[in-house]
Amino acid sequence: MKSATELDAADPLAPFRDLFVHSSAESDLIYLDGNSLGRQPAAVSEILQRVVHQEWAERLIRGWNEGWLDISRSVGDLIGQLLGAQPGEVILAENTSACLYKVATAALRARPEGKKLVTDSENFPSDIQILESACVSAGANCRVEVVDTTISPDPMTSLLSAIDDSTALVSLSHVSYKLGWRWNLEEVNKAAERCDALVLWDFSHSVGAVPINVAATGVNLAVGCTYKYLNGGPGAPAFIYVRSDQTQLANPVAGWFGSTAPFSFDPSSPPAPGVERFLTGTPHVVSAALIEPGVAMLLEAGMDRVYEKSVALSERFIHLCDERLADAGFEVRSPRNPDQRGSHVALFHPYAQAVGLALIHEQSVIPDFRPPDLLRFGFAPMYTSFTDIDNTVDHIIEVVENGGVDRWRDETPLVP
Ligand SMILES: Cc1ncc(COP(=O)(O)O)c(C=O)c1O
Repeated sequence: MKSATELDAADPLAPFRDLFVHSSAESDLIYLDGNSLGRQPAAVSEILQRVVHQEWAERLIRGWNEGWLDISRSVGDLIGQLLGAQPGEVILAENTSACLYKVATAALRARPEGKKLVTDSENFPSDIQILESACVSAGANCRVEVVDTTISPDPMTSLLSAIDDSTALVSLSHVSYKLGWRWNLEEVNKAAERCDALVLWDFSHSVGAVPINVAATGVNLAVGCTYKYLNGGPGAPAFIYVRSDQTQLANPVAGWFGSTAPFSFDPSSPPAPGVERFLTGTPHVVSAALIEPGVAMLLEAGMDRVYEKSVALSERFIHLCDERLADAGFEVRSPRNPDQRGSHVALFHPYAQAVGLALIHEQSVIPDFRPPDLLRFGFAPMYTSFTDIDNTVDHIIEVVENGGVDRWRDETPLVP
């Protein structure tokens, strides 16, 4: 195995690391939670300065005619480039939850009543909750079928056996939030298409981490967040992708910003023709503006190179965990096959939360914890180094050997 120093020296993405903010007060911090909240691009403070101190402070209401009105579309198109979408197929709006509700409800309403929505037990729990709400809004006979993929050794077979002629919509997280399981987009889309069902993907854990080509893989509909691997910042707006031929879908929360003429103040103004019809109200201008630098850097780096590094980082971590941590009770629970994995790795330990807290408070390593017994290590290729991987494993061993588990066993933080 090559040394981490050699790999870092040969890493074509290494220069991007310095384009993110690294606090000088914590120069040794190893940040492995970019799958929850990405690091801040250095360019953000200049944009914030411009939007807040020039556009808002000086231009005031004139800002709407000087770029604000189009911001959901312009940043959406930039994200669209990452997804292989056409201009006008991606829009920024609200948050992932609200976007999921809107698109799921629209898709269900476009299908005859009495059909089912298929999802899986590894999906983000709040997504399942929202899909239930969408079913209620869509019609009396609509129901959610949650395929239990947690216990399945072959999730794809379990899922495919649930997709049949009574299916109106399939909705899944492309990469699952806990184990990092990754669905094959094309295989699921084709199976749904054979049953005349639509598929709505949640790209929150995959956009900016693995290559996505919506056109080549037959994706109809998707939503995703911008604060993980896109580094858009806390509470940054989410995005909606609606393929341009899905003209039958209507926004269930229609409002002025989704109409052809918001400033006609006419409630009968028809819906905008493209994905813009899924807008509802005023865009989050300040936070939308902050999404651009993270996406621009990913486009510059190229998703093939980003993914290549993601696999190399994850494979190294898995190898070191198997070799050095198995005897201490740790077990890799994410898929072993990189084709079935996103860019985070879940590690089981009976006292995972205590290990995580000791890493954060005693070792300057930030992973996160998902109950009951998993630590997640997110490898954002734009700023994670191979040395970070080796040092993390050293720190985990230190925690176990120096009694960190006992010191943190009784603590329960507000955000795990
Ligand atoms: C896969 C997935 N979907 C949806 C959400 C919810 O996103 P939001 O709270 O921004 O609506 C999250 C949050 O982490 C997520 O991981």
